[in-house]
Amino acid sequence: MLNRHAIFEKNSIILTVGILIVVAIGGLVELVPNFYLKSTVEKVEGMRPYTPLELAGRNIYIREGCYLCHSQMIRTLRDEVERYGHYSLAAESMYDHPFQWGSKRTGPDLARVGGKYSDAWHYDHMMDPRSVVPESIMPSYRWLATNELRLSDIAADLKANAVVGVPYSAEMIESARADLLAQADPDADTDGLLERYPGAQVRAFDGDPRRLTEMDAIIAYLQMLGTLVDFSTYDDQADINLR
Ligand code: HEC
Repeated sequence: MLNRHAIFEKNSIILTVGILIVVAIGGLVELVPNFYLKSTVEKVEGMRPYTPLELAGRNIYIREGCYLCHSQMIRTLRDEVERYGHYSLAAESMYDHPFQWGSKRTGPDLARVGGKYSDAWHYDHMMDPRSVVPESIMPSYRWLATNELRLSDIAADLKANAVVGVPYSAEMIESARADLLAQADPDADTDGLLERYPGAQVRAFDGDPRRLTEMDAIIAYLQMLGTLVDFSTYDDQADINLR
């Protein structure tokens, strides 16, 4: 009887084509189901897009290269969860374009740094890290305190994020500038801001309500990191994660 398998074994071209077909089938089986999924990110209560001020702070975080020394991704490893808190969920970075997971930790992970320190601590730390952490090797970022925050492109920034899928409504884009100013002003009318961005923290983040600086934005951003999802209502690991 003819051994049909011998065709493949004796002819390398036919063997190569055969391998390609088999690998292609395997690849398709893995790929195609993903095209039919609406989302691979599980929805999580509490997640909302960044406020304009937080988004401006995030832009400064990227501009200054903070991600080169800091990650924002707590892995599912026991030592990380015990140190930083509940491991990061996909939903927590679903509005990040680009995401800030990072790949190097010269400094600690910042995914849950929000609320860990006071605004004044962050201010001092940005001005001179050694003034609050004597052994720190982090550079200082003094200019953030004197650079006025640029407002002119904040609406365009929200719009650009909307294009890549962040649910910023037309109303949010229209009020971007006003919302940004309101969040950094303790005396402002913040009803609209809080309705659009539930749980937004409002105050003069750099300690001076008369000035709107890049320091306001970066501290507003740092203070909200990891605070949107209430992990105390979460699974088995939640207890050891509460600071
Ligand atoms: C050269 C590496 C480096 C860069 C760049 C850097 N940091 Fe750091 N950062 C560190 C180190 C090291 C520490 C730990 C010592 C300390 O607290 O200062 C730290 C600590 C921190 C902390 C305190 C974290 C905690 O949980 O105690 C914050 C917040 C922080 N950095 C924010 C920033 C921001 C914002 C930027 C960008 C403007 C930045 N860092 C840039 C190295 C860096």
